[in-house]
Amino acid sequence: MIRPAQRTDLGSIMALEQEAFEPTQRWSEPSWLGELTQPNHRVFVSINPDVDGVVCGHIVANVADLNRITVANRSRRNGIGRELLAAFCDWALGAGAAKIMLEVACDNVAAGELYRSYGFINVGLRANYYGCGIDACVMQLALEVSAPSSSCALRLRAVSQDRYTGLRPAPGQREV
Ligand SMILES: CC(C)(COP(=O)(O)OP(=O)(O)OC[C@H]1O[C@@H](n2cnc3c(N)ncnc32)[C@H](O)[C@@H]1OP(=O)(O)O)[C@@H](O)C(=O)NCCC(=O)NCCS
Repeated sequence: MIRPAQRTDLGSIMALEQEAFEPTQRWSEPSWLGELTQPNHRVFVSINPDVDGVVCGHIVANVADLNRITVANRSRRNGIGRELLAAFCDWALGAGAAKIMLEVACDNVAAGELYRSYGFINVGLRANYYGCGIDACVMQLALEVSAPSSSCALRLRAVSQDRYTGLRPAPGQREV
């Protein structure tokens, strides 16, 4: 099941962060708290039966930025990353986004393939974005052109309808 994250998920999200990323690449707790509390930001978690995945991003004007996506080691290659992406895409569409942008390390095969399989295309490269000579690929999903409301998240929802629920804001969270 995918649902909007709440502040009480912060501990589980930090555990995912520590499992998935090297210390130098990890986000801090205040960074995640910001994602959870800022009004134009949104975080979704997957529950199987505990939190085993998270995605977050924000929207400014009609451009949504996907900031992070992580699935626990034990749950990878089960379609959860794609479901989280669909949840974020659905929210972005509903919030008025015309496109979703993201940066991904060019050597991150799993994430790059996930985004490509969803329809993201490469639109740029940021040299040494992550330091140590690791470049970022800038990727984009143009919602209006390649993913009208009849496709994109709805297309993915058809694939994972039984697990794709609870996408309205949690009590106390503001829709933007
Ligand atoms: C990237 C990540 C979120 C993918 O999550 P996932 O739940 O395993 O992904 P899915 O099972 O939904 O895979 C969807 C598609 O992505 C691609 N994919 C996922 N993992 C892959 C891998 N290791 N190698 C190649 N392609 C991969 C495939 O096309 C896959 O479709 P398929 O299984 O039908 O072949 C996960 O590997 C992860 O948490 N990585 C560490 C954190 C990270 O690097 N996040 C991105 C930067 S913030």
